[in-house]
Amino acid sequence: MAARLLIAQGHEVVLHARDPQRAREALAAAAGARAVVVGDLTSIAQTREAARQVNALGAFDAVIHNAGVGNREPRRIATEDGLPHVFAVNTLAPYILTALIRRPKRLVYLSSGLHHSGDASLQDLAWEQRPWDGAQAYSDSKLHDVLIAFAIARRWPGVLCNALEPGWVATKMGGPAAPDDLEAGSRTQAWLAVSSEPAATVTAGYFYHLRPRSASPAALEVPLQERLLDACRRFSGVDLPV
Ligand SMILES: NC(=O)c1ccc[n+]([C@@H]2O[C@H](COP(=O)([O-])OP(=O)(O)OC[C@H]3O[C@@H](n4cnc5c(N)ncnc54)[C@H](OP(=O)(O)O)[C@@H]3O)[C@@H](O)[C@H]2O)c1
Repeated sequence: MAARLLIAQGHEVVLHARDPQRAREALAAAAGARAVVVGDLTSIAQTREAARQVNALGAFDAVIHNAGVGNREPRRIATEDGLPHVFAVNTLAPYILTALIRRPKRLVYLSSGLHHSGDASLQDLAWEQRPWDGAQAYSDSKLHDVLIAFAIARRWPGVLCNALEPGWVATKMGGPAAPDDLEAGSRTQAWLAVSSEPAATVTAGYFYHLRPRSASPAALEVPLQERLLDACRRFSGVDLPV
């Protein structure tokens, strides 16, 4: 939906999908997109390959880190890299893509109101010592997304870098009973990616439906941000450019 909005506004949009079949479906759903890059974010190797495809297309004005998995996993599902699925897709993949994609002018990260319940200790990110709790793993990952957004905003002052929550909306993840406005749920990320309005041309902001909203105070803690970046570097083997 965000891609369709941007295409309708005349922007050149590149999509991302996990595999060739989903890539065809994404292109069919967002007519007018320039291209689609392919890579399953559960895999560090495929995430690196997706970044390579992005860079091969040229420099981007904005990147929206939207892909995510929800809170319904009943057990710790390990990826090919031995990491919990939710951590790999929601935390590590946006870190790797941020680090490897040529620096755009704007970065947007999809978080969730549930990030307020995320574990700010950053202990046991790989869920090897704690009993599995899918809802907690999701909340943790959405806190990680805000920590990454605010860390990058601080480290890369030339980039407008923000996070948002779309509301509980009726996507595949949100489910049919979700009460919030689905249209509004896709608008803020597109707006942060392209708008020249003063309210959108900020950095280290956290938004909900085009308005600033308070993020968890934990997300503002610089040592915590740095610890997460360091952990992501260790898990992925990918350095964040200075
Ligand atoms: N819906 C809500 O109520 C809600 C609330 C708060 C925050 N959010 C956040 O909003 C963002 C978008 O979620 P959504 O609600 O639109 O969920 P969704 O309908 O489930 O869509 C998630 C997207 O991520 C993609 N994806 C998942 N795993 C992937 C992987 N391994 N490799 C590549 N792509 C992958 C999915 O691809 P496939 O279609 O191929 O699976 C899909 O395009 C997420 O970051 C989510 O945490 C959503």
